[in-house]
Amino acid sequence: FDSSNEASIIVAEEIAALINEKEALNQPCVLGLATGSSPIKVYEELVRMHKEEGLSFSNVVTFNLDEYYPMGKDNIQSYFYFMHEHLFNHVDILPENINIPNGMVSADDLYQYCIDYELKIKSYGGLDFQLLGIGRTGHIGFNEPGSHLNSGTRSITLDHVTRADAAPAFLGIDNVPRKAITMGIGTVKSAKRIVLLGWGLNKAKILKDTIEGEETSSVPATYLQDHDNTTFVIDSEASSELT
Ligand code: F6R
Repeated sequence: FDSSNEASIIVAEEIAALINEKEALNQPCVLGLATGSSPIKVYEELVRMHKEEGLSFSNVVTFNLDEYYPMGKDNIQSYFYFMHEHLFNHVDILPENINIPNGMVSADDLYQYCIDYELKIKSYGGLDFQLLGIGRTGHIGFNEPGSHLNSGTRSITLDHVTRADAAPAFLGIDNVPRKAITMGIGTVKSAKRIVLLGWGLNKAKILKDTIEGEETSSVPATYLQDHDNTTFVIDSEASSELT
């Protein structure tokens, strides 16, 4: 797409159509959601559709990809805060249908917590749609280089590049958490439909490696190459290194 705005509206329209289709079948619509700068316009458009066109989120169940660890819900850098600010506070989703990894779970409970998050996704029959961004390390969710193809929800140590990219929001790299909870590659790949968003020159190199490179654990997003219903929605700057 020429612009990320135009592209984001098309993606929001696809999500809205899926919500309506599931509503007509009287089924929950299970969405996997991302935070960060990439999906902001998609959420803005979904909020607009809710307010102006009557799009209802009453049948929507969401699972967010990740959360920093440790991280409190009321911290403005939390993904919990981000999702409420950009989407949940502005639509009619039922609070009990919102799932975001809990950045305050105790270290002792963390392992079981991650297994339960995975099982909860499965209990809904899996994710109908997964929205992704991509990090400059090639991470999807917080699956950093080295992540296994079959990984599930777990705690992970963040890559230095990822922490450096997050540093401005935390007013310095020393304030960026070293760990996170993330859905795994296996969790993401079990989604029936995946859309990855990539905007700007900053993402051009990693998108080239992801789309045109060999599938490798050192660029975890390459694992999407053999998912049979994935679309990369990117703007012209992000596509500038593709051959
Ligand atoms: C966020 C997430 C990350 C981001 C990625 C890109 O929930 O899972 O993988 O999608 O770091 O971030 P932005 O969009 O800020 O460039």
